[in-house]
Amino acid sequence: MKVAIVGASGAVGQEFLRVLDERNFPIDELLLFGSQRSAGRKYTFRGKEIEVKLLQHNDDFKGVDIAFTSAGAGTSKEFADTITRYGAVMIDNSSAFRMDADIPLVVPEVNAQDALNRPRGIIANPNCTTIQMVVALKAIENLTHIKRVHVSTYQAASGAGAAAMDELYEQYRQVLNNEPVKVEKFAYQLAFNLIPQIDVFTDNGYTKEEMKMYNETRKIMHSDVKVSATCVRVPALRSHSESIWIETERPVSVEEARKAFAEGEGLVLMDNPEKKEYPMPLFLAGKDPVYVGRIRKDLSDENGLTFWIVGDQIKKGAALNAVQIAEYLIKVGNIR
Ligand SMILES: NC(=O)c1ccc[n+]([C@@H]2O[C@H](COP(=O)([O-])OP(=O)(O)OC[C@H]3O[C@@H](n4cnc5c(N)ncnc54)[C@H](OP(=O)(O)O)[C@@H]3O)[C@@H](O)[C@H]2O)c1
Repeated sequence: MKVAIVGASGAVGQEFLRVLDERNFPIDELLLFGSQRSAGRKYTFRGKEIEVKLLQHNDDFKGVDIAFTSAGAGTSKEFADTITRYGAVMIDNSSAFRMDADIPLVVPEVNAQDALNRPRGIIANPNCTTIQMVVALKAIENLTHIKRVHVSTYQAASGAGAAAMDELYEQYRQVLNNEPVKVEKFAYQLAFNLIPQIDVFTDNGYTKEEMKMYNETRKIMHSDVKVSATCVRVPALRSHSESIWIETERPVSVEEARKAFAEGEGLVLMDNPEKKEYPMPLFLAGKDPVYVGRIRKDLSDENGLTFWIVGDQIKKGAALNAVQIAEYLIKVGNIR
């Protein structure tokens, strides 16, 4: 298998190197791509040094079977044809193609088979907050239809890339040393703060990130579910958390939900209030599954259930989900 990673130097790109190795992904040759900034840099994969190539409109993707792209929507749009021209399957982490009708949007635990129908040779990896939410929703949807979701997210700094994570570290240092605080990656200082805005605002007052949760959830789950989201950036380094409220067609008891989450694919139940056991981002960074806890009946709605989830958004929310899609294609023999 000849594999390419576009955006190898980034937060997600680096995670691809770890996940591919960790999962023993079958690779005969690995190619790494970046912009002028990282071209020429070397990364070690399975004991071998690989130099980052400059991404250009040339024949570098000839013979590539799978290209994992995580270099932003602009780069994905500009280079999609160059990447797929010779038959490579492009699994794209950006928002460039997610809502296009002829591009499947896939979370393997929910809709793996959608990946088989890809007329443009592109499969989109959903937004990170949506991925971890639908993995949890699927367990309940298997019991009864989810009509409505209210969700507030608590999104870690690294969701905005490697440089954003560095900025948060630096801001804490600056505050503690009484130095002026440098703000570049976020709209405001994030250290000791919360920012109730992720991405830009749209006409209806919701941000783009919040509308992604609405639209992408419906597309992945093939559902008419309505999703109202508030997305908040928090000064955690890695792993997104979400407080989720759902309304289902018939009431679901806490016991029934616990069993469904415990058995759900890609999920770990972590819900022992008496022992103070519940998911927290600090302790779950770098883990594969989505963790679910704080499961309660909604006190204001007989058909309502509320719970709390945490997932590593660079892993399950990006690199791992993309690699799982590729593993599925290999398993069903749907890759050349
Ligand atoms: N961070 C997350 O939690 C997360 C989760 C899900 C999806 N994503 C998506 O994944 C993508 C990457 O995110 P990230 O967090 O990894 O960002 P990042 O840390 O800022 O890395 C960006 C990467 O893109 C590369 N790049 C930028 N412009 C390029 C160009 N013209 N040609 C080739 N490579 C180029 C950069 O290479 P150079 O260093 O050479 O410029 C770098 O490797 C984004 O679309 C993001 O929305 C991120």
